[in-house]
Amino acid sequence: MPEISIRSLTQTFGAARVLDDVSFTVPDGRFVTLLGPSGCGKTTTLMSIAGFQTPSHGIIRHGDRVLFDARQRRNVPAERRELGVVFQSYALWPHLTVAANVGFPLKVRRTDRAEIKRRVAEVLELVELSHRADAHPHELSGGQQQRVALARALAHGPTALLLDEPFSNLDAKLRDRARDWLGALHRDLGITTVFVTHDQTEALAMSDQILVMSGGRIVRAGPPLDVYRRPGSRFVAEFLGRCNFVTGIAHHVGGDVYVLEAPGLLGGVRFRADVTPGPGAVTLAVRPESLSVSEQVPGAAEPGWSGQVTHSTFLGESFLHTVQVGPQVLQASTPRPLTTGSVQVSVVDDAASPVSDEAEAFDKFAVAEIE
Ligand SMILES: Nc1ncnc2c1ncn2[C@@H]1O[C@H](COP(=O)(O)OP(=O)(O)OP(=O)(O)O)[C@@H](O)[C@H]1O
Ligand SMILES: [Mg+2]
Repeated sequence: MPEISIRSLTQTFGAARVLDDVSFTVPDGRFVTLLGPSGCGKTTTLMSIAGFQTPSHGIIRHGDRVLFDARQRRNVPAERRELGVVFQSYALWPHLTVAANVGFPLKVRRTDRAEIKRRVAEVLELVELSHRADAHPHELSGGQQQRVALARALAHGPTALLLDEPFSNLDAKLRDRARDWLGALHRDLGITTVFVTHDQTEALAMSDQILVMSGGRIVRAGPPLDVYRRPGSRFVAEFLGRCNFVTGIAHHVGGDVYVLEAPGLLGGVRFRADVTPGPGAVTLAVRPESLSVSEQVPGAAEPGWSGQVTHSTFLGESFLHTVQVGPQVLQASTPRPLTTGSVQVSVVDDAASPVSDEAEAFDKFAVAEIE
């Protein structure tokens, strides 16, 4: 399946710059997610690739084909881009059966009837809905309707899939199932996929690469674990989940290792940095699960900082504690409840990473090379 490559995509509406020089590549067969808050430009990016929106500048390629080139005035119509698209609201035609909905893109392409029948049966089997071919959309659950929309997107044998928040209408449990199911389908088909969501859990769970967007720009790109652990900016850190920020002065230890000295944190926090931290205040991002918490035993000398738990919340899979350490307030999670209020806290090795206050635009072509 061919790759998708986007270069310098820019979209202006009057004075508003909704997409600002967006460049990225989705390699052959990979699953790449655009993640970001409402209004950051995710749908605009996807609709530009699909051909339902005309960008102001930029180039969009799919394999050897140039789908859009503003300078060359090239703009391949949506129906000739051979992409499968599921929109943010996956509107099915209410008066058509499941089979007719799924076969519609083939009918538009003047495919012959026997071929439509064969292909519809094939994709309905793929989405596990063969038994509902004659039902109407209102007779299906939300999750089933969403699978019909996906079957419709796959019917004409697209060479890439573009999915805009396809699970947004599902409740939490169904969403989980839909995620697992789409992940398995992607592994089976190996189809190049661009997925849009503002749900960080979804992005972390499903993607080969995550592109975090803010204000029409890509501000961080990388594999989920890397983006989660080394967010690079406060914005990305907070968008991907709960995070502590500890500010202090960094001292070089050797190689790429530094220690951050912050009020109340005796001995500081060791961290690694590719770029030498500045002489002023440095801020580290530390996830709650990256703090090791042990209950203080009177008289025992335990490593870490002494703190007081001021509040605990049960989250189902874990407990989240608010811990006062000197002037710092930290959030720490543990799998079990704590029995005392006095604790020792330390940062798990290599789990702190420096962040900037501003989310800067990420390097061009950032995801061109993916393993
Ligand atoms: N046709 C248009 N004319 C003017 N402004 C537009 C148009 N389409 C989108 N915008 C603006 O562009 C920005 C990005 O919109 P977009 O739909 O891409 O956001 P999004 O990231 O998909 O958000 P959401 O998570 O809410 O779906 C928004 O501020 C929106 O108001
Ligand atoms: Mg959107």
